[in-house]
Amino acid sequence: MTTVTFITPDRGTLAVEASDGLSLMENARRANVRGIIAECGGACACATCHVHVAEDWLVRVGLPNDMEREMLDFAEDVRPNSRLSCQITMTAALDGLVVSLPAGA
Ligand code: FES
Repeated sequence: MTTVTFITPDRGTLAVEASDGLSLMENARRANVRGIIAECGGACACATCHVHVAEDWLVRVGLPNDMEREMLDFAEDVRPNSRLSCQITMTAALDGLVVSLPAGA
């Protein structure tokens, strides 16, 4: 198991035990994280799974590909550290990951 901490828009924190091999979005949905809606089910076609990756995790999480970058244009509160959580696969290397939910999530 890998632990991910979600920071909510009101600055609360929610620690989730994530299953490796599933996406961050799938793990968030299983844990009922509010603000991760995932309308498209992980097809990179809705941007309702938007998160901000903590600065010190950006290198390990990696950059969005072109398709994800284009879909992020439809999200709100997009920042340089924005990612779609359905495009992040959880692995042991991401144990301790911290992400924030955008304003309005
Ligand atoms: Fe739709 Fe991530 S779940 S883009």
